[in-house]
Amino acid sequence: MEKAEKDRKKQRVSKKRRSSEKQGSFYKPAVNSLSRIQVKPGNMLYPVPAVMVSCAGSASGSAQTRPNIITVAWAGTVCTNPPMVSISIRPERYSYALIRESGCFVINLTTRDLTYAMDFCGVRSGRDVDKFEKMSLTAIPGVKTAAPMIAESPVNIECKVTQVLELGSHHMFLASVEAVHVAEYLVEKSGRFNLEKANLVAYSHGTYYELGKVIGSFGYSVRRTGR
Ligand SMILES: Cc1cc2nc3c(=O)[nH]c(=O)nc-3n(C[C@H](O)[C@H](O)[C@H](O)COP(=O)(O)O)c2cc1C
Repeated sequence: MEKAEKDRKKQRVSKKRRSSEKQGSFYKPAVNSLSRIQVKPGNMLYPVPAVMVSCAGSASGSAQTRPNIITVAWAGTVCTNPPMVSISIRPERYSYALIRESGCFVINLTTRDLTYAMDFCGVRSGRDVDKFEKMSLTAIPGVKTAAPMIAESPVNIECKVTQVLELGSHHMFLASVEAVHVAEYLVEKSGRFNLEKANLVAYSHGTYYELGKVIGSFGYSVRRTGR
């Protein structure tokens, strides 16, 4: 076989291999039906994010203005356009009054390196401790709201409360997203936003997990080449 022909064959083989490797890296399982038992109705929607919500009382209000952080797992995206989120907080939390009074908060995404601080902010109250100081975190001013942001978190979402729904044990703050700040290392030269690099953390039934293995991407089930 001539060298050029050999090279072409080599190229065809490696192209095929690359394509099947790509396909192979995505998960396409055999799915079986499972036997089940019914359990007491409760919160079983997992995994969820466990975010660090930073807030401060307004200077004119009765609450202190020292910045505080509360860990929140009952948080979610509720609307794309306009961008809106929700967080649900028990009224007895110190942060509850701060957010009610100031009408704003910042959702800071939790990374592997912030997990210890996130847990601490979820088991100690700002009534008793300055969580920024204790966890060596830096409060930086928000740009669009009066709430502080956590400088060590790579994604800060500034929110303005639009409605409070008093649901029961928790009151849900519905909020508009006023600004989003992203660490430079997550933005590629093309402008693409690469959250995979952030080592984000999920919470599932009492346990924290670092996001890891990619097993698919949006719409991969109907794409021919996987990615
Ligand atoms: C992983 C985790 C998730 C939590 N999620 C919520 C939540 O969604 N809503 C809430 O009111 N409290 C939640 N908490 C409890 C508060 O973060 C905790 O009571 C905190 O100490 C309140 O702080 P503060 O008194 O300074 O506001 C959570 C705690 C942890 C550890």
